[in-house]
Formats: sequence, C-alpha cells, structure tokens
Amino acid sequence: MNRNAPIGVFDSGLGGLTALRQLQKDLPLEKFIYFGDTARVPYGGRDKETLRSFAQSDIALLRSFGVKAILVACGTLSSVLLEEIRGDYDIPLVGVVKSAAAAASEKGSRVAVWGTAASIGSGAYAREVERLGKKAVSSVPCPKLVPLIESGNTAPDHPETKAAIAEYLAPVLLAQADVLILGCTHYPLLEEAIRAQADIPLINSGKESVRSLKETLAAQGLLRTDGEGSTRYFVSGDIETFVKQGSLFMGEDLCGKVEYADAGK
Ligand code: DGL
Repeated sequence: MNRNAPIGVFDSGLGGLTALRQLQKDLPLEKFIYFGDTARVPYGGRDKETLRSFAQSDIALLRSFGVKAILVACGTLSSVLLEEIRGDYDIPLVGVVKSAAAAASEKGSRVAVWGTAASIGSGAYAREVERLGKKAVSSVPCPKLVPLIESGNTAPDHPETKAAIAEYLAPVLLAQADVLILGCTHYPLLEEAIRAQADIPLINSGKESVRSLKETLAAQGLLRTDGEGSTRYFVSGDIETFVKQGSLFMGEDLCGKVEYADAGK
C-alpha cells in the first residue's frame, strides 16, 4: 500500500468530525476522505445485520478512493461488529472503543459510558473497561442525543437537549462515576451543554482513537512524510444541513467543500 494514499474516516453523520478535527491537527500531511452517511443516520437503534450492511457499503465507498486505512469513527459500528469484520479487509480498520476505554482508565477507576442503544447493548465499552481492571459502574443508552445533534440543537439552554442530558446524567451521578466516556462520536458536540450540568471528566471517543490510528499507520510504514494535507467531505443526505452544522464544529466554512456520495448502492 502506498503511503501517499488517503485515509478514510466515516460515521453516520456529524459524529466522525470529532475524530477528523484531531486527525487534521495530529497528521497535517495526510489526505482525508470523510464520509457521513446522513441519509441513513441514526445508526444507533439498528439491528446488527442492518449495521453490517451499512458498514460494508460505507467501507466499499471509501475503498473506491484507494484509502490506505479506515478510521471507523462510529461508536456503534466499533462496538457491535468491528472485531468481526476486520479480517475481511486487507487494510487497517481502527475503531474507537479500545482507545476510549484506555483513556478513561487512566483518569479514574469508576467509569461510566454513554452510547447509542446498539453500543450499550453490545457491552463492548464496559467489557474493555473491566478488562483494564477498572469498574464499569454505569452504561447508559442515550437515544435522544444523535437526532438532537444532527438537527443542530446543541446549545446548553435548548430545553429538549438540556432535559435529555439531565436524564442521562442521573444514573452516572447516582453510580458515583469519576469519569464519563462519550462512547458515541456525536456526543462531544454537546460537550459544552454537558459541562454546564456536571463536573465530571469527559472522554471524547473520536479524539482518543486518533492516537491508535497513528500508531497503526506508523507500525506499517504508512505515514506520509511530505506533501500537503487535504480533506474531501462526502455525505449521502442533505449537503446544506451538513455544511451548516459541520462548519460550526470544524471552525471552518465547509460551503462548497461537501460533495454527495451514495453508499447505499
Ligand atoms: N456517531 C455514531 C456513534 O458513535 C453513530 C450514532 C448514530 O448514528 O446513532 O455511535
């Protein structure tokens, strides 16, 4: 594989941007292809076979750009089936669960996790936390958050967002957790709103996965050593909505930079 090939990053929508932003910072020479499957978001309430077919088509789309590795910047797919499908591919696929659990374990011994229904149902984060010798004291499915984020309702004082965060924080505080994994890559877009309600260290699963991707590429001699970094953005749904929310989060105007791609075919 050519070290100058791009790196693929994907998620159901905006969530993977939490990883991409860190990737652009830490790997400035790399070329990135980002895909947000916004026509099929949210992923978190889907069954495993549907998720498998989504993952296969998303990966096939990124492979059509000749990517050298893929960051599965989605807590749901990383939790539910990454370990099962990894062997089907001849390029590295890196997920978000292990690195987030490792970062949480360094911060505390009573770990709470927020995730989608599918991620929490899989038990993947809790298993990894326990494997690292820490206690997974609370695992909370948060189905209201991704639709709120995708529709741009991220302000700390937005009534529905505020109420949903309070609801999901309650079991975490009750369990006296000392660190909270934001196990869905979308959730860091609510960081300010969460911090407005609780004083607990937050682990950004997308951001943490970047170190693991970097290590994987370095081990295989696949890091770019010169050239100019770039990012191409693709979505399967409405471009304007993604541009609006994505620009806010990336701190960069994405107008004219987002293209359409259909992973479902
Ligand atoms: N951001 C993804 C995750 O980390 C998907 C969320 C969703 O589409 O439900 O789980």
